[in-house]
Amino acid sequence: MKTIITFGTYDLLHVGHIRLLSRARELGDRLVVGVSSDALNFSKKNKYPEFSQQERMEIISMIKGVDQVFLEESLELKGAYLKEYGADILVMGDDWEGKFDHLNSICQVVYLPRTPSISTTAIIEKTRG
Ligand code: CTP
Repeated sequence: MKTIITFGTYDLLHVGHIRLLSRARELGDRLVVGVSSDALNFSKKNKYPEFSQQERMEIISMIKGVDQVFLEESLELKGAYLKEYGADILVMGDDWEGKFDHLNSICQVVYLPRTPSISTTAIIEKTRG
């Protein structure tokens, strides 16, 4: 049984999110997703996501191939989360390339290419603009 773990905000769900989750799931047998908390987003970006952490977790938990969802409350706890959920592979989008290599002592770290030309930020700008 190979466990895959990945993290993200997943606000205003789009096809880039779905493709990343689907490709992550293909690397193993069980996919665990850490959904970043509202407070963590506020501390990083000085604004809250459009959808609350409860709503974002509810949406992600209903996606085919997602086996477990939890709330990511701190960036510093990545290593602890990997151990807690028994991750064999950490999957991140390649916008994070190299940034999580230090976690290789806990599990394999894989960066997958992002889907081009789409992001939550771009959707917000387009719909507001
Ligand atoms: N992702 C992806 N392709 C995209 C957008 C996101 O593969 N076009 C992946 C990210 O690499 C990450 C996961 O989806 O592994 C969650 O990304 P998140 O940061 O929540 O989404 P973004 O659309 O990048 O949001 P933002 O614009 O707020 O940064």
